[in-house]
Amino acid sequence: MIHMLINRAHQHLLPVILVAVLLITGGVALVLSHTNANQTVAGPGSLDVLAGQWQYLPGSAAGDQESLRIQPDNFSIVHQDGSGGQPNPPVNLFGTHLETSGSWHVFATLSDVQDSAALQLYGQVPLIADEFRVERKSIRLSFAGSTLTASRWNGTSQTPFTMSLPFSPAPDHTINLAIAKAGKTLSITINGRLAGIMPEDGSLSTGTVWLGADAIKTAWTLSSLQASADAGGHVGLVDASAMHVNGPDAQGLQTLASRKRPGFMVGAAMALAPAVSDSQYAGVAFGGNFGSLTTENALKWQFVHPTPDTYDFHEADALVALAQRHNMTVHGHTLVFGEANPAWVQALPTATASDKQHVQDVMTDHIKTVAGHYKGKMSSWDVVNEPLADSETFDPAAGQTFRNHIWYRAMGEGYIATAFTAARQTDPQAQLFMNEYGLEFDGERWDAFFALVSKLKAQGVPIDGVGFQSHVYEAGDKIDPAVLRAHIQKLARIGLKSRISEMDVYNDDGQAVQTQQFPAIFQACLAEPTCVSWTTWGVSDRYDFWQDDDGSIQQGADLLWDKRMRPTPAVDAIRQLLQ
Ligand code: XIL
Repeated sequence: MIHMLINRAHQHLLPVILVAVLLITGGVALVLSHTNANQTVAGPGSLDVLAGQWQYLPGSAAGDQESLRIQPDNFSIVHQDGSGGQPNPPVNLFGTHLETSGSWHVFATLSDVQDSAALQLYGQVPLIADEFRVERKSIRLSFAGSTLTASRWNGTSQTPFTMSLPFSPAPDHTINLAIAKAGKTLSITINGRLAGIMPEDGSLSTGTVWLGADAIKTAWTLSSLQASADAGGHVGLVDASAMHVNGPDAQGLQTLASRKRPGFMVGAAMALAPAVSDSQYAGVAFGGNFGSLTTENALKWQFVHPTPDTYDFHEADALVALAQRHNMTVHGHTLVFGEANPAWVQALPTATASDKQHVQDVMTDHIKTVAGHYKGKMSSWDVVNEPLADSETFDPAAGQTFRNHIWYRAMGEGYIATAFTAARQTDPQAQLFMNEYGLEFDGERWDAFFALVSKLKAQGVPIDGVGFQSHVYEAGDKIDPAVLRAHIQKLARIGLKSRISEMDVYNDDGQAVQTQQFPAIFQACLAEPTCVSWTTWGVSDRYDFWQDDDGSIQQGADLLWDKRMRPTPAVDAIRQLLQ
């Protein structure tokens, strides 16, 4: 089983190095070779980093002559109830980063800095979820007025070590910054003067330096970015957007499924950070196991529509590009949801009729803009995600059937029909789904959901199908495939398709439950002609993070590939049923 990671020839840069990496995955040798390092310099001489690929950096736009205009797009992550607001500064993931060893320098010119500007250098890319960002190894240099705040994350604590370094701003609003890494120290020079020296603590010693830039209050311009190696050191530019995994693997889950039932899609929710920064992950995710990619978080409101007047498609565009390059379809998650909405959405008033109309306009504009941006590129959408009240509050007898979020408060259950209608008008080719959890069981929740979709169908609302999330988070969530099949058949009789949309299985009781549940639900879907896709919520436990009630960040073990990127026994069990 041999995969080659081959990059597209980059227009401005010369492909120079060929690196072959031998990975042993679950006893199977996987050769990944990549020609990503487009240019290298050892010793004196510097690389023009901005001449690389920057087109997918969130919050930025190309300026004149290889400069980047950095916009204050207010990227932040809110808690599910809308509170908080952890900053989420953009990283150039699907683009250029550095490969380094030994001692090196980075030089940056920040122009038109009216009040504030920030650059961040990452030894490891951050991992992003809806409610939190896991900062791994990085250095952040944030300029405000005449103070540079330098923060360092060393990969073990979420609380950075921070230093405040005063400097004299230049009258022309330009900051010339030099960062020198020598051994375990970083020297920071501003406008020709040494501003400070910071212990590096391993944060930029991983051999890889990813780059990010953001504006805090007003836009500024990154007008130059150079890197050079000192004697004995090395710096190279790597274009992660050139990544391509050759395939498909003959034993890949999608490869096998396509043989067994042509058109059936095996999918996974994916995020950009692991896809571009981890070649083992990329080999599994893009090498024939999955024919469909669900945008895990990149299209949730707070990421794609951070302020009322800004949409940022950079990251989701990158995922779509990766999927297309690997002949995968894309399932868009999600247009309307009660969670992961930015503070500005959560704060919209719903008191008066005109407030309500405004909320409806905000929702339909969002659907038209986002589904319009991806018109022809999405094979399907979760138009409405989780319309039902959470299981703790769900109580139809007490009138608590629907989730009481901003959309429901403004429009009642009519928001659902409005959302589907807007989505169909915008992208008539895309299949439109309503996605929910807990539908795999008999009972009031399923009854209420079935009544809802029956009503929508009877009213002629353009809904094509239902997503069964199929999260198995604890013993009580275990799914009976016979009940699931009965529900899929019931939906088929009213003209609705089904998909298993977000399956993952806890392993607190050991792997046996996973080894039983994953293939059993896969098989149930495969056997029903109207069940069009089996999709899992993530690829590998290596990137399976969640936040406990006390706020601590935990790593799960719920997915098909484990932390070491070895296939779990459930993968073999699915392969067997596909033979
Ligand atoms: C999850 C994301 O994957 C996490 O990164 C985030 O921390 C929480 O939300 N049902 C859904 C998905 O429809 O949007 C959720 O995604 C998982 C549950």
